[in-house]
Amino acid sequence: MSAEPSDVSGVHDDAAEANRVRIFDTTLRDGEQSPGASLSSAEKLEIARQLARLGVDIIEAGFPAASPDDLLAVQRIAEEIGSDDGPVICGLARANEEDIRAAWEAVQPAAKPRIHTFLATSNLHMERKLRMSRSEVKTRIGEMVAFAAGFCADIEFSPEDGCRSDPDFLVEVLTIAIEAGATTLNIPDTVGYTTPDEYFALMRKLINETPGAERVIWSAHCHDDLGLATANTLSAIRAGARQAEVTINGIGERAGNTALEEIVMALHTRPRFYDLHTTIDTQQLLRTSRMVSNYTGLVVQPNKAIVGSNAFAHEAGIHQDGMLKDQRTYEIMTPATVGYAESRLVLGKHSGRHAFRKRMEELGFELTDENLNVVFVRFKELADKKKNVTDADLEALVADEFYGPQEIYRLVDIQVACGRPGMPTATVRLAGPEESVIRPAIGTGPVDAVFRAIDQIIGQPNTLIEYSVHSITEGIDAMGEVTVRISDPEGEHTYGGYGADVDIIVASAKAYLGALNRMLAMRGSRHRRAEGQAAEIQIAATQSQAQ
Ligand code: KIV
Ligand code: ZN
Repeated sequence: MSAEPSDVSGVHDDAAEANRVRIFDTTLRDGEQSPGASLSSAEKLEIARQLARLGVDIIEAGFPAASPDDLLAVQRIAEEIGSDDGPVICGLARANEEDIRAAWEAVQPAAKPRIHTFLATSNLHMERKLRMSRSEVKTRIGEMVAFAAGFCADIEFSPEDGCRSDPDFLVEVLTIAIEAGATTLNIPDTVGYTTPDEYFALMRKLINETPGAERVIWSAHCHDDLGLATANTLSAIRAGARQAEVTINGIGERAGNTALEEIVMALHTRPRFYDLHTTIDTQQLLRTSRMVSNYTGLVVQPNKAIVGSNAFAHEAGIHQDGMLKDQRTYEIMTPATVGYAESRLVLGKHSGRHAFRKRMEELGFELTDENLNVVFVRFKELADKKKNVTDADLEALVADEFYGPQEIYRLVDIQVACGRPGMPTATVRLAGPEESVIRPAIGTGPVDAVFRAIDQIIGQPNTLIEYSVHSITEGIDAMGEVTVRISDPEGEHTYGGYGADVDIIVASAKAYLGALNRMLAMRGSRHRRAEGQAAEIQIAATQSQAQ
């Protein structure tokens, strides 16, 4: 059954286009707002490259006005990923001239740039946060959408906290946005408050009652505070929305955003129910999920739909029996459809440099000769210890080597003694900004001893919030992946780290060091920004005294 409203079809050229749901990925913007998910610009670029490979229609690459680093990261993505046949590159801006200028500066190099501007429309937000009246909000929206449209033809407008806004006021606001040049209207459930039926009714009302509705694409943007983000987004799509704003693994503010993989696979697995499609290459889903998890340090729960490690595991005897007879008894989609085809042997100990380079290229890694050599050496070491080296192993090696944070401290040597009876002892040597330093430490276990030795060298107070280890592939010789999250002493920010190695103690050391490096780098740049702002204030004060 399809609930396509007849009045949205005018915007599309043909039926196929009318039934296409655009995938707007905001992993690098709303996703990066997850506690502890801060990414370096190299990591952002690599994720953007993978999102393009996945086939998303729009990448919301960041919030350029947030800081010069954010602006540069979006600009780099626009330059390198935003080609003619690549995705639209979008930058977020509050509804003010400064933000919109910054967004435009960042996305301008893309072949298909988009500015996404927003202003809150719920009574609560307007009265308590913005301290603006309804008429001031309407004026600002008209002016700022028009201002953005002066730079760029593709403009998205979002009434923030849309699902708690007065629906009739929303119609007024969205009419103004269309008249001012908006081409996509996004209705955010900013606080994850709505329900599927309510969101359906709201989307239908807005599409039916807003003059000019047929000229724009309607979009859903949901947060998962009540665990309803996917259901709500699908409901909005059934009501006529043709853009879904989503993140990989559902990462995002608080409980997160709608998970891209869930929307895509729901539409893919239930074609007769939805009669809608996306242009996503579903076989890239797992790989994208792993990359985002590794780079952000946000572990995917084992029972996560589509990409969790148990998503295709069958434990109950009855289920296993059914699976052996016919997989369709307990599987509604095949693991291969979402990219689980890779447990096959890829390369082994006798594979040469040529085969290795070819596989890396097939996996889409654009490595310089020098970097390829680095990974080749790691691959050979791994192949000596592990018979079958899979794609997942190779991805982990690349993530481990190149996509951590800036390396302020580097692991040089590590030695651990443990067992029973005895005192777990670790000796660690790190290369620091000035010299390399060795320290021993005793801990409650070997990992604790290693972390204590690292703490002794770096001396950066922090709290360990999460430590998780899992094997990349099956078997006793599998590489271990470790993810660590720490928070600063004030408990304000969290930082993730990732490490992969056949030795999980080494992987743990790398992950902890990664998180600490990220913390040092981010604290450093925040400190420099604060110093810069203080200097600007000082200069401004001196100038005004001189006048
Ligand atoms: O959740 C929200 O309201 C947002 C907007 C900026 C679209 O992320
Ligand atoms: Zn959001």
